[in-house]
Amino acid sequence: MRILVLGSGAREHAIILALRDEAAHHEVFAAPGNAGIGRDATLLEIDPDDPVAVADYAISGSIDLVIIGPEAPLVAGVADALRERAIPVFGPGKAAAQLEGSKAFAKRVMDAAGVPTGRAVHAHSRAEVEAALDELGAPHVVKADGLAAGKGVIVTTDRDAALAHAETYLPTGPVLVEEFLAGPEVSLFFLSDGDTVRPLSPAQDYKRLGDGDAGPNTGGMGAYSPLPWLDERFGSETAFVDLVTREVAEPVIRQLDAEGTPFIGLLYAGLIVTEQGVKVIEFNARFGDPETQVVLPRLVDPLSELLLAAATGTLEDAPRPRFADTVAVTVVLASEGYPQAPIAGRPLGGLDAAAAVEGVHLAHAATAERDGAIEATGGRVLNVVARGSSFREARERAYRAVGEITLEGGQHRTDIADRVV
Ligand code: AMP
Ligand code: GLY
Repeated sequence: MRILVLGSGAREHAIILALRDEAAHHEVFAAPGNAGIGRDATLLEIDPDDPVAVADYAISGSIDLVIIGPEAPLVAGVADALRERAIPVFGPGKAAAQLEGSKAFAKRVMDAAGVPTGRAVHAHSRAEVEAALDELGAPHVVKADGLAAGKGVIVTTDRDAALAHAETYLPTGPVLVEEFLAGPEVSLFFLSDGDTVRPLSPAQDYKRLGDGDAGPNTGGMGAYSPLPWLDERFGSETAFVDLVTREVAEPVIRQLDAEGTPFIGLLYAGLIVTEQGVKVIEFNARFGDPETQVVLPRLVDPLSELLLAAATGTLEDAPRPRFADTVAVTVVLASEGYPQAPIAGRPLGGLDAAAAVEGVHLAHAATAERDGAIEATGGRVLNVVARGSSFREARERAYRAVGEITLEGGQHRTDIADRVV
């Protein structure tokens, strides 16, 4: 197949590496990509957020399947433009992508579909925020309604801080004050063709910048998959995944279909396993980053076939995706100053030595090639991904590879997957 992948992160590199791993040979194109992706795909200079430019290229380039990585092209209506021209695309249209773009939309769909989630109050003024904080009690959770690149949420026991956070977003619209949910977090992905859903294997993301979950929220500093502790609680991973498929994914997909906005693409369920059961904290309308980097290397079936089946409404005929027993761990390397003010333009060294560690590969994010050398161009620079037969082995390999890489001021967590070793 001729496949076009939109985006430029480590998630997109992971998708492309999975396509490359298949027995079938594909011609893979990426827009805009990065230095690492450029070694595994042909880079295109088209704007991934421009529906007309993407659709025109897909037609003229005889593309068989477009895979949309990040949320920006979804919200810009790129999937709609492709579907209008009958090009198979993995990614929801603008209307269904609101499941990620608007927390109020997501809450309304969950209510209508009877999906378990925290209680939430939609507050339009300081007075309404104060009343909701008092009603729901501490710890307080306040969320901006729209896309806020991971900065829109505060979780705090400090009522004044919660109120101040709400006040920074109130001028642009209402905020959500939510019940605090206690328990471990799980990211679970579902492929959907608008009607049928197929689950992938769960992963856990480390969202805070520092070891021990200290410091600010980030886009994600590491991940591991699978989650052995789910077995203790639910009997097996399959039992957990089946429960979430039944109680969360299928009702949401049915509800969106009934509303005339079918969801074709990846449904990302952000879950908290509470004492009272599994509850949704958020949905995303795309693959998670960095979770994808540990989920896809474990996928046994050809990714392109699954995504094409979702894009063309034939997922019902596809078997449930299978995953290897090997485990995967990823550690994110970020630039100095990330997430507030990352310093770009510094050289990266030791990449070949890192990739030479057994079981290790690199997924590039913010990298560019200049005069034959690779430099960091932004916040999250790259992912070191390690596979192994145990978490102890995968973790040891990942950190050995991280130790080979040089980046002045580079930051990474040293405790990824510690809790499962
Ligand atoms: P979100 O942008 O909704 O994923 O929120 C970012 C992070 O805030 C989540 O990964 C959780 O760690 C935390 N969070 C969000 N909502 C809640 C909640 N209701 N209770 C506890 N923690 C939450
Ligand atoms: N890892 C969190 C996200 O992709 O939103």
